[in-house]
Amino acid sequence: MSRVLITGGAGFIGSTLAHRLVKNNEITVVDDLSMGKKENLADIDVNFIQHDVCDHEFMHQLLDNGKFDYIYYLAAVSSVADSVKRPLRTHKVNQESVIDTLEYIRKQKLSLKKFLFTSSAAVYGNLPDFPKKESSHVQPLTPYAVDKYASERFTIDYGRLYGLPTVAVRFFNVYGPRQNPDSPYSGVLSIVTKCLKQKKPFTIYGDGSQTRDFIYVEDVVNAMIKIATETKSPTVYNIANGNETPLIDVIHTYEKITGIKLNIIRKKTRQGDIDKSKADVSKLRQIGVKPKWSLQDGLTNYWEYL
Ligand code: UD1
Repeated sequence: MSRVLITGGAGFIGSTLAHRLVKNNEITVVDDLSMGKKENLADIDVNFIQHDVCDHEFMHQLLDNGKFDYIYYLAAVSSVADSVKRPLRTHKVNQESVIDTLEYIRKQKLSLKKFLFTSSAAVYGNLPDFPKKESSHVQPLTPYAVDKYASERFTIDYGRLYGLPTVAVRFFNVYGPRQNPDSPYSGVLSIVTKCLKQKKPFTIYGDGSQTRDFIYVEDVVNAMIKIATETKSPTVYNIANGNETPLIDVIHTYEKITGIKLNIIRKKTRQGDIDKSKADVSKLRQIGVKPKWSLQDGLTNYWEYL
């Protein structure tokens, strides 16, 4: 039985992680519910604290009292659009809170088995090299991407400089139950799911040929747990399937699964949208992580969950 802290644990990925770990671990979740929902944790027994991770005093006390073995750091403002609109506020969450936590762990010499920071494929930007390796050039194009990149470097550097047990991951396009579909910048498959369910039209930006590397949230938490519990070096891992699928193909697969024809409205490509995305997952394979969910199975499971 380990003691686990999940910051942002009421959100989409954090709550899925909490569900997976709750059986054999003592879980504490900190979430200010700015994006997450308490209902995401309603059916499990976790120590839930509604609080902002930017309150450093509060976090220090929590770290002192919690005696955590593992910290999964998912608290973030995950909206890129929001980071463009309010860069300073999002910076405080997406970078400052991370540095403060790392610094406190170092100064207080807190004993910890792993600190795992969650970054994003956004760090790769729009460079043409393909597929994206962890060692590929980065091009953080938004405040969100800049903060995610800086925080992952801090995480890794605290491992290298001070021997803290740290690791970072870069999520590609994660989908599955509990993903919030309510913003135009929500994950596309949560929006498609909502449109199918509510028989509402779906707006596709561009011709649908843009590709993404989709990964089911269950596979994501499996990878995170394996990385947190079984790896030793402070480094970064892509978390993706390693397949690129055109958006229109995913939509057609989903239509077949649900038996519902989506009413598609076409609009021009969104500004800043990337054309292709695919991860090189050889580093993940080297540690024995192989996703179990095909797109077909993941979408079926997602639909059945609703
Ligand atoms: C993702 C991240 C984004 C990050 C980017 C960088 C999410 C939700 N977004 O964006 O924060 O900056 O990676 O790698 O994880 N689409 C539609 N209709 C919609 C919504 C989306 O056609 O209603 C299209 C988009 O224009 C895009 C594709 O679907 O071409 C995927 O969109 P999205 O799920 O937002 O992911 P990314 O664009 O990969």
